Amino acid sequence: MCGIVGYIGQQSLLDILLQGLKRLEYRGYDSSGAAWIEPGEALRVVRAVGEVRHLESKVSETDCYAGAGIAHTRWATHGSPTEENAHPHTDQSGKIAIVHNGIVENHDALRETMLSHGVRFTSETDSEVVAQLIGYYYSHNHGFEESVRKTVQKIEGAFGLAVLCLDEPDKLIAARRGSSMIIGIGAAEHIIASDMAAIVQHTSRVVHLDDNEIAVFADGGFHTSTFDRQHVDKEIEVVDMEVQEMELGHFEHYMLKEIHEQPRCLHDTLSGRIDLRNGRARIAGLEELHREIAKVRQIVMLGCGTAWHAGMIGQYLIEELARIPCDIQYSSEFRYRNPLVREGTLAIVVSQSGETADTLAAMEEVRLRGATCFGIINTVGSRISRETDAGVYLRAGQEVGVASTKAFTAQVALLAVLAAELGRRRHLSMDRCASFLEELHVIPEKLERILGKASAIRELTSRFVDHDHWLYLGRGVNFPVALEGALKLKEISYIHAEGMPAAEMKHGPIALIEPGMPVVFVAPRDHLHQKVLANIQEVTGRGGEVIAICTEGDRRMRELTDHIIEIPETEPMLSPILSVVPLQLMAYEAALLRGHNVDKPRNLAKSVTVE
Ligand code: F6R
Repeated sequence: MCGIVGYIGQQSLLDILLQGLKRLEYRGYDSSGAAWIEPGEALRVVRAVGEVRHLESKVSETDCYAGAGIAHTRWATHGSPTEENAHPHTDQSGKIAIVHNGIVENHDALRETMLSHGVRFTSETDSEVVAQLIGYYYSHNHGFEESVRKTVQKIEGAFGLAVLCLDEPDKLIAARRGSSMIIGIGAAEHIIASDMAAIVQHTSRVVHLDDNEIAVFADGGFHTSTFDRQHVDKEIEVVDMEVQEMELGHFEHYMLKEIHEQPRCLHDTLSGRIDLRNGRARIAGLEELHREIAKVRQIVMLGCGTAWHAGMIGQYLIEELARIPCDIQYSSEFRYRNPLVREGTLAIVVSQSGETADTLAAMEEVRLRGATCFGIINTVGSRISRETDAGVYLRAGQEVGVASTKAFTAQVALLAVLAAELGRRRHLSMDRCASFLEELHVIPEKLERILGKASAIRELTSRFVDHDHWLYLGRGVNFPVALEGALKLKEISYIHAEGMPAAEMKHGPIALIEPGMPVVFVAPRDHLHQKVLANIQEVTGRGGEVIAICTEGDRRMRELTDHIIEIPETEPMLSPILSVVPLQLMAYEAALLRGHNVDKPRNLAKSVTVE
């Protein structure tokens, strides 16, 4: 999705803006641009289609001035990814330049009004309306700051904005409603960005701009106020994020790095949160909701994509361990339904980025109907994390690869801890809970063993990579793992893959199976194992090639297929944390073998901040 970087200070402006844009590349984009004011008092705007390096080569001849500047990576929504549609956009007079994240919902009406005032537009975007409107007010004798204030009050929809004005070269203005905007505070310099990733190498001291707030930067400082001019005191937070989290190290791709980080991430996720002696979990956010939790009668799980898959595993875990009715819902569907939310409903909101527009809207909807919201979020300070009633952070570190991997296993691990603790507060015995948590505690070591099989997984993947259609099947808690495996394969290798419950196959999809078709079974040993073995025979009987993720030493599986990846024995409800890892590696290898850019899959964005 789109990314914003802005800088004001004494360092080389363009270097900082370009570095920032590169840090935001992982979010997904199709064009980029930058604007700054040159000492000779000209507003320079440079834009390029494609990767940030194209922009870099266009500005390489330019001296790096100090001062104020803004930059942007655009993920096209209104208008195709062309240079004209790339940001920054300027107003008709060429004095105002803006970068914008979000969507201006009333852009058609605003454009009509501007056209009737004789304004000429040069792009197809909704964002240009913002530049033109600021410029319109400015040309009617409102000052720079006042023109921005008037404009943000006219715009409907979500926005993060950064604005420059040629007549006030030492000023930068940022504003936000519904789209992240963070201010990094350095020594007499400020860097603003839509994402911590662009700030972390400069400073760990940040301020989060809240909705309907404006920040005006000038004279080495800044002040914040609401759109209607009420002064706001902001608290400076110190963020615990290392630059190394954004570096590749010795790995070829972020996705591979993050797959390999999983044992350490899980260790961090669980650290200090499980009390093995008493069979309890210690999650501060749960304590904050102590009263509400005691009265919970129903749980609604909200998320999208991979987070939704983790939520579905959470649903199985909560029903099994805590015996609380639990429903998993797609955020995008839930927000537009007329859902029945009973008294005593707890909504568990699962999101890696904490920015997903649909999940945010679903959360607002469920809260409106009286539910208490608990977040399971990775990105510290993100919008969802700040708007839930309480919650817990994954501690998985920045996830850069577009295909979510380490966030998924951390989400499942936290949902397991949560389910166990909810169970303990109801029917779960101390012994049963303690042995469950003990098993969770040793999962990182077991995961390490699976990572050791990477080359065997590569070899196995290479045998099937030329097939264009794959099925992924599993039962019970392995069904969402099958869905996740299929999602990973399609999103980065562009191979068509479908995941489904293994027993559903005979209700239609079995018609697809023909000799040689790869069918991946997520089949660790559990109470449904015999039934899964029968499903496998239904596939092999029709010539399908079964790839099985099974428990170490499963002799029967070896008799049924030659293509197996063994995972260590574990508590069956926890097996998704292990069984998903070979599927992540298979997807990674398939994408590489097909020659795709693993970290920048086509059409995808890391965080989906628009509907
Ligand atoms: C898939 C993937 C997406 C996200 C989904 C939700 O690999 O990353 O399906 O899981 O867009 O994102 P978050 O968790 O940030 O709300």
